[in-house]
Amino acid sequence: MRIPFIAGNWKMNTTVGEAIRLVQAMREELDKVSHVDKVLCPPFVSLAPLKELLKGSSIKLGAQNLYFAEKGAYTGEISPLMLADLCEFVIIGHSERRQYFHETGEVVNKKVLAALKAGLKPILCIGEKLEENEASRTEEVITEQLNSSLAEVKDLAGLVIAYEPVWAIGTGRAATGEQANETIAFIRQNIAKRYGEKRAQEVRILYGGSVTAANAAEFMHQPEIDGALVGGASLKATEFLSIVTQTAVIKYRK
Ligand code: PGA
Repeated sequence: MRIPFIAGNWKMNTTVGEAIRLVQAMREELDKVSHVDKVLCPPFVSLAPLKELLKGSSIKLGAQNLYFAEKGAYTGEISPLMLADLCEFVIIGHSERRQYFHETGEVVNKKVLAALKAGLKPILCIGEKLEENEASRTEEVITEQLNSSLAEVKDLAGLVIAYEPVWAIGTGRAATGEQANETIAFIRQNIAKRYGEKRAQEVRILYGGSVTAANAAEFMHQPEIDGALVGGASLKATEFLSIVTQTAVIKYRK
């Protein structure tokens, strides 16, 4: 059985002080929930202090991005080697990075390869835009994104996939559980073709896009959905805790 996975993507929110207070507000309760991977992805500057704060906790950390070179003259960038000391996961290919920072499939692929080489587990984000969805091009877009992102990736080594339809991110307009389940089943089939059925059954695939405490159950009841990548709702301790708790209850009741 795949261990459910709930990650909070804090995006460009929280100062270091706010990040510490947010973790303090949920750490104890989150630690009571077992058999769910709980991952927080704060801004880079909070990774080190939160690592310190989370010593002895079951909560894991992830970064929101990296650069693919190991070191060198890349002013302002953060390398996989720097992150490997601080966190276990790293979000790669988020649609906001593709949109605002012009990350192409090729760049996403380099980042995935660099993360894996450094021993980091990518949370690879894929998903179609509204116009692509309306033109029934979802499967085509997803296939193209998997082709480019996973080029030359021989072993998934703990990689997690997040299916995030772009039209559902930060809009309050989530996909339905059934829609998301269907696309995630398609993603799993695609992974089976590349890496074999065993790997496909092992890889965790999340839904992301306007997940809240109010709609989380709808997604977690779906058999193909292994968890969620949560944006806005992960900035509220009670909301995030509720999503994690509901996930534990639903996934282990079956
Ligand atoms: P949202 O963001 O939950 O605020 O829609 C999800 C994400 O961007 O990962």
